[in-house]
Amino acid sequence: MLVEHKHIKIPWHIEELHPYVPGKTLAEVRAAYHPARISKLASNENRLGCSPKVTEAIAKSLAVVQDYPDSASRDLCRLLARKLGVKDTQIIAGAGSESLIGALARTFLQQRDHAITADVTFLGFRIQTQIRGVERDLIPLTKDYRFDLPAIADAVNDQTRMIYIANPNNPTGTYVTKTEFEVFMSRIPEDVIVVVDEAYFEFAEDEPDYPNTIGMGYDNVVTLRTFSKAYGLAGLRVGYAVGPEELIRDMYKVKFTFEPSVTAQVAAEAALSDQDFIEKTREMVGTGKERLYHFCDSNGLRYVPSYANAVMLVFKSETEANHFTQEMLKRGVILRQLNGFGMPNGVRITIGTDREMKHFEDSYKDIYL
Ligand SMILES: Cc1ncc(COP(=O)(O)O)c(C=O)c1O
Repeated sequence: MLVEHKHIKIPWHIEELHPYVPGKTLAEVRAAYHPARISKLASNENRLGCSPKVTEAIAKSLAVVQDYPDSASRDLCRLLARKLGVKDTQIIAGAGSESLIGALARTFLQQRDHAITADVTFLGFRIQTQIRGVERDLIPLTKDYRFDLPAIADAVNDQTRMIYIANPNNPTGTYVTKTEFEVFMSRIPEDVIVVVDEAYFEFAEDEPDYPNTIGMGYDNVVTLRTFSKAYGLAGLRVGYAVGPEELIRDMYKVKFTFEPSVTAQVAAEAALSDQDFIEKTREMVGTGKERLYHFCDSNGLRYVPSYANAVMLVFKSETEANHFTQEMLKRGVILRQLNGFGMPNGVRITIGTDREMKHFEDSYKDIYL
């Protein structure tokens, strides 16, 4: 079915698409409120920046920006394969994991296929599957804000081709355990691709019951990872998918040929060589979360314990969540109100440096105390 425009006909599933609404930029906040300082805690970026090795590598890459990049990111895939204990041919890199969600949808889905995910999760999968005109079931999270894997397995039908699980989930920060995942997989038909988005892997991997899906050996699981979060390269756009060789080979057919860029590839390679930076990042996020939990407990703020680099605060109503977000914004603290994620009474805060967390606390006191 086509929707009538004045001149151009646009497919109904594009007409109905709600584009992703990103967090506010520094320039927008500066222009609107002129705050003394700004703490950008809305988009789950790494507030420590990135490794100095990355900046060095980027500087060197400027000498070759006139050349197209290696379309198969061979050096990067080789390094990743060694690190992850898989073959190079099981990895495909792209301009962020969001681009790979797009590649998955273009490779394996067609109109009227059926896909399943949660009602409150990263929106990339919803957008990319709607672009393909795919029918979706969005399964409500459990009461403790986790993916409801049994309910997702119940929703599988003959048309189901793909399931998307963010683990840990965004915006809730919760994760499904290894046992829960194994039980779930035992119920999923082999012709259904299960996409496990591990964008926040580095913040959860030390939990003893967290499933590291790379290496679990499933023939129908594709794992997504990114350099945007712990590695601090969100602005460069590099992510990758790891899965069975046949599926990765098919994804190469639809991949946008020359992504990631030259600079993004060498930056990711350099980032991998600096695990000290990842340790520092984990330490900042760990202490920042403890500090935030303590502050919330002392001030009667409800939150969901998180295994990512952000924490979801839960308010009584959308009005309260909006008021909180707006007042914080006026004081230069950019947070993410979660209406767009289907959680209107939620506000997400990215864990930042001590200075940024103090800015958050001081602003809170200024508003409410
Ligand atoms: C679960 C999840 N997946 C993917 C992304 C996007 O990652 P990338 O920058 O690699 O496209 C995000 C970003 O917020 C996310 O939360």
